[in-house]
Amino acid sequence: MVISGSNPWKASHVGPLIAPSLLACDFARIGEQIEAAVAAGAEVLHVDIMDGHFVPNLSMGPGFVRSIRAFTDCPLDVHIMVSDPLYYAERFADAGADSVTFHIEATEKPGEIIDLLRGRGLGVGVSVKPATPAGAIEGIIQDVDLVLVMTVEPGYGGQKFMEDQLTKIERIRSMLGTEQRLQVDGGINPATTARCAAAGADVFVAGENIFGSNDITEAITALRNAATI
Ligand code: DX5
Ligand code: ZN
Repeated sequence: MVISGSNPWKASHVGPLIAPSLLACDFARIGEQIEAAVAAGAEVLHVDIMDGHFVPNLSMGPGFVRSIRAFTDCPLDVHIMVSDPLYYAERFADAGADSVTFHIEATEKPGEIIDLLRGRGLGVGVSVKPATPAGAIEGIIQDVDLVLVMTVEPGYGGQKFMEDQLTKIERIRSMLGTEQRLQVDGGINPATTARCAAAGADVFVAGENIFGSNDITEAITALRNAATI
């Protein structure tokens, strides 16, 4: 069991964070692409976990995170799009995640998941799908380090950014403390990054825009420039 627990959201770093989504990697070359992303200054690596039930797609499991953990010490920001977030939060903490973000839509007992992650010293995030209102997380928002506002319907990379999420980003930013992070995820590129930053986001997940480009460093730099308002 890997005793993970370096909460990346509490790190002293201020300012925007860039979180490349490994879902968009060429899995035959993932080590090389991770090294390039970390060398280009990515502060965390975003790992999209899909169970084929909560979202209509399957991605990777705890074994993938275990391998990546052994490969890099860059913080692993694991986004679990699964129907049993309590079970998988523990599995990914065991595998070496530094933070786990669960979906509020997938649980009646968010407090149990938060307590488990806190007990392991991990970062704690909660995510809302596009159709889920900000009010759905009102009761627990003070207990998390990060809120992830999905700017696409979760399940696939390479989708188009959903403009109608900008007002939700503003609303959730107004509910968060200055030490809490607001992450956006889905269709993120320099143009949408600038709009999300202006609305209050400060952690930017990008898959296609980074790993679909022919220059990972240039892509990450462009995102950071766009995020710096
Ligand atoms: C979608 C995932 C996103 C996605 C982002 O369910 O949560 O992280 O991989 O990919 P892009 O940046 O290509 O939209
Ligand atoms: Zn994600």
